[in-house]
Amino acid sequence: MNNLTVENKTPIINYQKKKLVKNKLDTYKEKEIKVKPFIKWAGGKSSLLEDIKKFYPKELGKRINKYCEAFIGGGAVLFDILSNYDIEEIYISDTNKQLIGVYNTIKNNVDSLINTLFKLENEYIPLNTDERKKYFYKKREEYNEYISGKIEDIIYGSALFIFLNRTCFNGLYRVNSKGFYNVPMGSYKKPQICDSENLKKISLKLKNVKIVCASYHESIDFIDENTFVYFDPPYRPLTETASFTSYDKEDFGDEEQIKLSEYYKKVSDKGAVVILSNSDPKNTNENDNFFDDLYSEFNINRIKAKRRINSNASKRGYINEILVINK
Ligand SMILES: C[S@@+](CC[C@H](N)C(=O)[O-])C[C@H]1O[C@@H](n2cnc3c(N)ncnc32)[C@H](O)[C@@H]1O
Repeated sequence: MNNLTVENKTPIINYQKKKLVKNKLDTYKEKEIKVKPFIKWAGGKSSLLEDIKKFYPKELGKRINKYCEAFIGGGAVLFDILSNYDIEEIYISDTNKQLIGVYNTIKNNVDSLINTLFKLENEYIPLNTDERKKYFYKKREEYNEYISGKIEDIIYGSALFIFLNRTCFNGLYRVNSKGFYNVPMGSYKKPQICDSENLKKISLKLKNVKIVCASYHESIDFIDENTFVYFDPPYRPLTETASFTSYDKEDFGDEEQIKLSEYYKKVSDKGAVVILSNSDPKNTNENDNFFDDLYSEFNINRIKAKRRINSNASKRGYINEILVINK
């Protein structure tokens, strides 16, 4: 599949190459198509994937033929499952309306999305630093007009979402208390803004996926004893200064973590295989039994992750994260 790589980014050549990619993709069996996340996302699970995979149910793709990921974010686990298993029904959700808009746009309008992204890429890449800065903040303003409803075009709004994610500081997505996106510009020399090959493959893979803008508990009717459920909620902050839960304007505090643990039990009682990940409070306070108490009737596994504990880069290192498993 390497020979499908789109290297030249001028619009005309890209359009022709894109057609080639499409024709080749049409001939692939769906099983052979590998997909990967199309955005960076705070708390994204790509780096923990190998550990999480060890806990996938053995019957995944056989008796367990449904998958539910109710806090989808960048979807690292979803894309692994879409790449490697035949699953009959998939349900994904998130409360971030614009993020869900991007998933829907990739599913339903991938060609228009790619054209818009190439246009943004071709405008942005040749600019010098000052011009890029102006361009970035202009697009951020437009994106906030999309959030407020002033701009209604979901394809353009979704393209702005991906553009900002690829060019902003650390690929963060963060909004202020009014719900407006406020991440500053990043300093990437040549960010890849349009990965058309991956987007097209994702579009094919999403065709039978139910994509919902909703809180996690609305997945209840989908889940049954043949479902594998993965919950990756906003992390419980390890320190007061490390709080990062502003994926949208509603915060996810301890009360929400408690409600989620009740939902976990409910879903487990339905017979589903359920995995939940979160930060381990014991990294900073060994007497903090918050999750050990909440999930005392389930198996709590601690896995090593490379993460920042606080904003000081020198404090990065390996810390534990928890995986709660019910089987
Ligand atoms: C840790 S991230 C998920 C990261 C994802 N696993 C990945 O690999 O990129 C948590 C996600 O939960 C979403 N979220 C926050 N509150 C929610 C709720 N009540 N219901 C569903 N999703 C929610 C956030 O918007 C965010 O995208």
